[in-house]
Amino acid sequence: MVIDAARGGSLNSNSVFQGDYVSLLRNISKTALNPASNIIELLENTLRVMGDSLGTNLCAIYEASRSDGFRFMCGYKLESSCEADCLIQLVRKHAEDSLQNHKITFTHIEGSKLLYIMPLITDRTLGVIILGFNNEIHTNEMEILASISDILSTTIDRFFLQQQISRQYFSTVKSLVVAIEAKDVYTQGHSQRVSEYSKIIGRHLMLKDEVIKEIEITGLVHDVGKIGVSDQLLTKPNRLTDAEFDSISQHPEIGVKILQPLNVSENVMLGTFLHHKRYDLKGYPLEAGIDKLPLIPAIIGVADSFDAMTSERSYKKAMTKQNAVAELKLFRGTQFHPDIVDIVEELIDSNKL
Ligand SMILES: [Fe+2]
Repeated sequence: MVIDAARGGSLNSNSVFQGDYVSLLRNISKTALNPASNIIELLENTLRVMGDSLGTNLCAIYEASRSDGFRFMCGYKLESSCEADCLIQLVRKHAEDSLQNHKITFTHIEGSKLLYIMPLITDRTLGVIILGFNNEIHTNEMEILASISDILSTTIDRFFLQQQISRQYFSTVKSLVVAIEAKDVYTQGHSQRVSEYSKIIGRHLMLKDEVIKEIEITGLVHDVGKIGVSDQLLTKPNRLTDAEFDSISQHPEIGVKILQPLNVSENVMLGTFLHHKRYDLKGYPLEAGIDKLPLIPAIIGVADSFDAMTSERSYKKAMTKQNAVAELKLFRGTQFHPDIVDIVEELIDSNKL
């Protein structure tokens, strides 16, 4: 980035920034490098630390997108998302210049506000940060801005890269599930249906969007551990022996091990681990370390059984939805969470499932 050489040390008494900039950069790095599953949350925390330490009157980060130009990601001390849109319109040319020439640019806007536009670049163009100040910044302070811009560039780049790796790994896991289900013509599409049913139940419960997403993912991957179970057992039409049942009961634990590198949320892990645990805490895994069945595995457990009952298998015909609900009700409060059984009944009665 085009910046004069650093002078280092604490800032002089005329500085706009106050305090020791080494500890300032350390604080920003610490915040920006925190492990987080949500980049916006991470950047917001970083902007807050940065904005308070630098005494800025506004901060905003925009992603540079080939198709949409600059897309607002997050801000601090912005009054509205409208202000975020106006801001980038005002400085669009400076932002483009900043990215093209890898340099910090600045411009005056209404009143005495000064906007500094910093590029976010690694080996690819990521976006820009805009910082607003009441006074002009000294040359040595520009070096601090350049360092902050480098830290944030690395943070965003690392996050996008992790996301890309996770997406690829997730596709692999989904392919594994398809491969497992393909071994038995009767189970094809099971995980997809469990995912759909669970989402409908989650929406009926008015759960937050991020929880619905976790439910959707859990439904898709809950049986991935079956890859570690022999094909003969998975497709055995007759009753399983105790030893065979013990073997197949390992699949939730195997599933969790497969999901580990995916960096999925705790809820997805727990949902996969506990999807065969019953409401009365019988079922498997035997040693689950819980005193109450969490909501996501409770939903997946009901959806899983509902799909098993309403699908044809090598050893049985498909039940009607009404008969499946009657069966769920027989085990309401023992195997199945009573509220989830009631919801499934309501959904069936109103043709929503
Ligand atoms: Fe399962």
